[in-house]
Order: sequence, then structure tokens, then C-alpha cells
Amino acid sequence: MYAQMIKSEASTEDPKQLKEFQAKIDDNIKVEPRDWMPEGYRKTLIRQIGQHAHSEIVGQLPEGNWITRAPTLERKMILLAKVQDEAGHGLYLYAAAETLGVSRDDLTEQLLSGKMKYSSIFNYPTLNWADIGAVGWLVDGAAIMNQVPLQRTSYGPYSRAMIRICKEESFHQRQGYDIMMKMAQGTETQKKMAQDALNRLWYPSLMMFGPSDAESVHSTQNMAWKIKMNTNDELRQKFVDQTVPQAQYLGLTIPDENLTWNEEKGGYDYSDPDWSEFFDVLKGNGPCNVDRLEARNKAWDDGAWVRDGLMAHAEKKRAAKTAAE
Ligand SMILES: [Fe+2]
Ligand SMILES: [Fe+2]
Repeated sequence: MYAQMIKSEASTEDPKQLKEFQAKIDDNIKVEPRDWMPEGYRKTLIRQIGQHAHSEIVGQLPEGNWITRAPTLERKMILLAKVQDEAGHGLYLYAAAETLGVSRDDLTEQLLSGKMKYSSIFNYPTLNWADIGAVGWLVDGAAIMNQVPLQRTSYGPYSRAMIRICKEESFHQRQGYDIMMKMAQGTETQKKMAQDALNRLWYPSLMMFGPSDAESVHSTQNMAWKIKMNTNDELRQKFVDQTVPQAQYLGLTIPDENLTWNEEKGGYDYSDPDWSEFFDVLKGNGPCNVDRLEARNKAWDDGAWVRDGLMAHAEKKRAAKTAAE
């Protein structure tokens, strides 16, 4: 339905303007907030940046859950910094989305009502400390794979936000890998925990790149607009190729019997995740969908007094200023 909506709107737009717009993108000139843009481009970006922002915010929940239980003070401080980074990423991205004419309140409302999605990976639980390692290693690793090419995306504010975000994401991936390293070199039980975390998070991480290109509805137009820089399968392949040697170094086994090096393509052959599970989690049936939305709604409601207080303060200041004039 969304693709149809874009199509019908695009057809009412001036073909000359559309052509000039495409030429600009082909020349790698960034589109800025005040420039003319097709409605389809604007809407797709609002959806993409909005979902991305929501993912950063909801992504704080599975890890935030472990801040009080991190095994050492140092690990606690590192995790705290990482979770704070994710809040910052959410804020840059909401700000980038606002330049497209949507308000942050609107976006928040759509997240809280379940109308707008966030990355399904965050609907999986973090059961033990090894999961925090696996999340940093695999989930932030997959996020980097998605985000590095987006630094070159055509929309200026999004591209600039991605440049800042990517710098921090590498730190996130390394802190995760560092936890995995400690666990994998630890006691037999710790090594088992690390393997178990990898077993549970491997396929959900592969799902983070989205369904296979053949099934992805928006791919062609989004790639022409440079909103999407690579296909889902290209990025997934890159992720597998990067991650397999890292798992080997840890002495852990990727839970895929079909994983083999393919000399001809210069990459690994691997098994696809169970896509029925992906669509099921997307529909709201993952292990933590309900919890995540409840937590965000509660945080929004609990924070009402802060927002009210800030508004009252701003109002008071404005009134004092007017009185003094
Ligand atoms: Fe992030
Ligand atoms: Fe991150």
C-alpha cells in the first residue's frame, strides 16, 4: 500500500523537477531541508529515520536492564556510557527527522501506539551477562554494517547524523567483543554462556538486514534516491564474512551447519534465518514486544511532570521577558 501511495503522489509532481532532483542525487549533491523534494522521498525518509531513531531508544532497554548487574564497576561504567550513546543517537535522528516537517511528539506518539516500528532485534531478551557481549558484538556490528554506507546517503541531515553515530558504534562493537573474549577465555561455564548467547542471537542478527532483496518492496526506488545504499543481501553477506573469523578467534561456533567458505564468490555460504519468525516478531509476537512498548509508555507517562515543569518554566521566563519590555 505504501509503494502505491508513493507512486500516485509522484505522478502529480512536475516531471522536470523530478528529473532535476534525480540529477542532483546522481551528482552526489546533498539534499537539504529547504530544497524541493518529491513527497515519496520525504515520506520514505521520515519513516526510515523515524524507525531508526525509535530503534536507538528502544535498544536501550535490553542493555539498560543489565547496568545494575554488570559484573565489575568498570563494566558498569562502560555499559552506562554505551546506553547513553544510544540515547544520543536517538536524539540526533529525531532532530534529523524534524527537518522533514514531522514533529518529535508525532514520532513519539507513533512509537508508543505501535504504529511505527523499531528494529525487531530489540524484541529479544537479554538473559544473562554474555548476551550483553553478544549484543554489542553482533547487534551493534550489524548496525554498523547498515550505517556506514548511510554516511553517504543523499539527505544531508541524515548523512551528518550517521557520521557522528558511526564513530560511537565502533566503540560499542568493541566493548561487546571484549566481553565475549573474557567469557570465551573464562571458565567452562562462562564459555558455555558465550556460546549460548551466540546461538540465540545469530539468526536474529541476520534478520536485522531485512528480508531478501527479492521480497523487499521499496528497494529499487530507494536505491535510486540514495536512501538505501546497498541491498539487504549484500550487507548480510558482508556481515557474515566479517563475523565468522571473529567467532573463530573466540573459539565459538556459529550455529549453522551449512556455513562454508565459497571460493568462487569469495564469501561464506550460510543458512537463511527463519523468515516466518521475522514476520511474526514484526507483527508483535516476539518474546518482548509487549514489555518494550509498556516500558516506553511508562517512561513517557512518568516523565510528564518533567515536560510540564519545563514548559511552565519556559512560559514564566517568556512572561517575565514580555513584562520587562
Ligand atoms: Fe546507536
Ligand atoms: Fe550502538
